[in-house]
Amino acid sequence: MEQQIDLNNYEGLCRLDSTGMMDTLAGLPAQCLLAVRDICGSVELPAIEAISNIVVTGLGGSAIGGDLLRVYSAGRIPVPVTVNRDYVLPAFVGPDTLVFAVSYSGNTEETLSAYEEARARGASVIAITTGGKLGEMAAGDDIPLVKIPAGCAPRAATGYLFIPTLVILQRLGMLPDLTVETTAMAGFIKELQEKIGPESPGEENVSKQIAHKLYKKIPVIWGVSGTTEVVAQRWKGQINENAKAPAYWNVFPELNHNEIVGFEYPREILKKIHLIILRDEQDHPRVQKRIEITRDIIKDAVDGITEVWSSGDGDLARLFSLIYTGDYASLYLAALYGIDPGPVKVIDFLKWELAVE
Ligand code: PA5
Repeated sequence: MEQQIDLNNYEGLCRLDSTGMMDTLAGLPAQCLLAVRDICGSVELPAIEAISNIVVTGLGGSAIGGDLLRVYSAGRIPVPVTVNRDYVLPAFVGPDTLVFAVSYSGNTEETLSAYEEARARGASVIAITTGGKLGEMAAGDDIPLVKIPAGCAPRAATGYLFIPTLVILQRLGMLPDLTVETTAMAGFIKELQEKIGPESPGEENVSKQIAHKLYKKIPVIWGVSGTTEVVAQRWKGQINENAKAPAYWNVFPELNHNEIVGFEYPREILKKIHLIILRDEQDHPRVQKRIEITRDIIKDAVDGITEVWSSGDGDLARLFSLIYTGDYASLYLAALYGIDPGPVKVIDFLKWELAVE
């Protein structure tokens, strides 16, 4: 039986964390700065014209940056951004598609398959990886390769995996210069780190408080379409991978048309659910009203409801404020369960089994 770690015991938190997830997370602001200033600098881009759609193909920790791009760019880029988490690409992918093939390890078989398909269909492909087979294939095919630093878990490399997509689109003239906004976001989450990082005491630390609320409960995370949906998905994935616990997510307004009906039975299991509602000042006023009504409808059915508001100026800062809060909460939840947040043995085992012919 694992031993629960007191969240105010900094040494205890570090002792449990064999791969340094806590330190890597503390480095997220620096990671974002490096990604916006340096990482793409030497990448040569061919003339890419007449792009009708953008696809980010990747899985897990390497795909979430695609969702961030999809949400962030929705009101900014006049072509659709689709995230593909599969071996195959949608039928619309062709010579007018820009494909980002993203794999932290460079060895994820679904991404390698989608990469080959994108090449065969004549799409413009850009690879983002630390190396691996994807790195070799991109170098061999002479396509733009964004080489990112190795040495951490893919889910801890969100700055490296997401921000280069913004920089490339900026260089292609599809987005304005984002250096100022990204730098401001990095500065803002650095300040936030002092409030929610491991050295900030539980009474003042929102992420530690959230972890306590989620401990021994089933986390259900609700975001809002077009804004915090990507954060809800991120929180779910981080709780799964870091805390080795189940979590589920959904979005307003869609959940108002089905999921809210499902809070009657089985009562004893519903009482194990702790609901997190992610809030953002930019959410549609009608959605804000929906959230208020929904909370009243289900408040007695579940263990509790916690609202977490985004903070900071600008879309990137607000998105990353929530991501950072959830990332820390997932590490603290791991500590409450007394589990090492880094290793994901089940994913490694599955990939290993798949590799056996
Ligand atoms: O966090 C993880 O380890 C996973 O979600 C991986 O990101 C996923 O399995 C894909 O691997 P990669 O990011 O190396 O392509």
